[in-house]
Amino acid sequence: MSDFLDENHSATGAVDTTPDTPAIHFDVFTLFPQMFVSPLSESIIYRALENRLISIALHNIRDYTIDRHHICDDTPYGGGGGMVMKPTPIVRAVESVLARSAGWSLPPEDAYENLPPWEETTPATRPVDTAVILLTPQGRPLTQTVVAELHQFKRLALVCGRYEGFDERVRTQLATDEISIGDYVLSGGELAAMVMIDAVTRLVPGALGYALGAHQDSHSPGLGGLLEGPQYTRPYTFRGEPVPDVLISGHHANIDRWRHEQSLMRTLARRPELLETLPLTAADRAFLKTHGWQPRSPG
Ligand code: ADE
Repeated sequence: MSDFLDENHSATGAVDTTPDTPAIHFDVFTLFPQMFVSPLSESIIYRALENRLISIALHNIRDYTIDRHHICDDTPYGGGGGMVMKPTPIVRAVESVLARSAGWSLPPEDAYENLPPWEETTPATRPVDTAVILLTPQGRPLTQTVVAELHQFKRLALVCGRYEGFDERVRTQLATDEISIGDYVLSGGELAAMVMIDAVTRLVPGALGYALGAHQDSHSPGLGGLLEGPQYTRPYTFRGEPVPDVLISGHHANIDRWRHEQSLMRTLARRPELLETLPLTAADRAFLKTHGWQPRSPG
């Protein structure tokens, strides 16, 4: 759909050391592909696309309709308010795209008129290493653990719902997973898909441009799933508030210990429920207890 996101950018002049095959390819299915263009054209995602660490193809579900008015939604059986997304254009779009190599998208001039042959009555076999994910408020919650799981796939098809949701046959016949980015309702799955693309891309080696990458982020393995503690940079004093002495001591063991304790305290203050399931050491538990932690599970 969007040329700039599919385009093969090649470096000129300097030797090109970027991989030929991106680590992960996202196929996004939406009624509003333009929503993605600006968010994916900046910063880390843009650089990951430029360096071919990831690739993204945007597919307009409406292109896969064959009726005169290109209708993608209809009234619910059984009555009630709202509209439901019809299964046929979605399933047709996703199966047509996944039957082809990563990077393929329907040429714009073929929309509606010249769709590839598609087996309407029998489900297509899904390629290996591919997940088909519906973005809906009813999905399993997106956490860093889920992000790490999704990062294992070579290809992710992200299907963005609108209106009151999907016809159930999209779930039963197409989806392999269903994800929510939080307990609130968005106007559609597009913003949720962007969140997922961003979070997964951060885990692709090289995407963050520094050695440790996302390993040291909040919720990530380097911090043992804890929240990240406070960070400081210049100036040394800002409005009378100086940087903690330990950070300018040059004593790396003390700095590491201080950071770890700050992570523990921040997690205790803001997300105490996380502490219940993290692999804390005996020293961590003792430290937290001196700061008022009362674990629900003893140990
Ligand atoms: N679509 C609407 N609300 C959503 C949510 N919270 N997460 C994912 N997709 C959605």
